[in-house]
Amino acid sequence: MNVILNTPRLMLREIVRDDRTDMAEILQDPEAMYAYEHAFSSGEVDAWLDRQLRRYEQDGHGLWAVICRESGAWLGMCGLTIQNVENTRELEVGYLFKRRFWHRGYAREAAAGCRDYAFNVLGTPRLVACVRVNNAPSRRVAESLGMKVERIFVKHYYDMDMPHALYVLELPGTAHRKGK
Ligand SMILES: CC(C)(COP(=O)(O)OP(=O)(O)OC[C@H]1O[C@@H](n2cnc3c(N)ncnc32)[C@H](O)[C@@H]1OP(=O)(O)O)[C@@H](O)C(=O)NCCC(=O)NCCS
Repeated sequence: MNVILNTPRLMLREIVRDDRTDMAEILQDPEAMYAYEHAFSSGEVDAWLDRQLRRYEQDGHGLWAVICRESGAWLGMCGLTIQNVENTRELEVGYLFKRRFWHRGYAREAAAGCRDYAFNVLGTPRLVACVRVNNAPSRRVAESLGMKVERIFVKHYYDMDMPHALYVLELPGTAHRKGK
């Protein structure tokens, strides 16, 4: 088991094939997946799982499994993925949790662990979160990380134009060095 990081209540580790049933509880839940406009088919769950395993190999990181340290419960996924945002490569913090574990501060805690890992271990100068503008809980999580909206952009997904907020957190001095 490849453990990535610990927070006071949570342990984040790499996803393995045996996690498929837990992942599907989120990915096939229409309410959890409303930001994606559809619950995933079985094939889409397989593709999602394969994509995380490929990311670990190619990038050294991806979405990780979030486990409750006290009970061992499989709570959700949170991690760091490379995304193409309007033709720019960005490092994104992402988070999805099982509905029965929402509202306990788990997303905020896991995402804060990933933010610190991104800056302290990966040494990134910039971290983003792309959040559908109407996804209030996700926006609150991004804001709890100290992120600010840089701009609104439209993502074309599932045959729809979806306005997204690009939340950004940069190391002090980085924006200046880039000449902003
Ligand atoms: C987004 C998500 C991960 C948040 O998980 P969570 O563990 O419930 O979040 P937390 O308990 O850490 O709460 C985060 C904040 O959102 C707020 N929040 C939670 N549900 C909310 C709701 N329905 N409306 C408004 N705010 C909400 C909480 O009050 C908290 O705000 P605070 O920091 O001011 O206290 C969870 O809702 C989820 O898995 N959603 C589906 C997947 C998804 O949309 N992921 C994001 C894609 S960009």
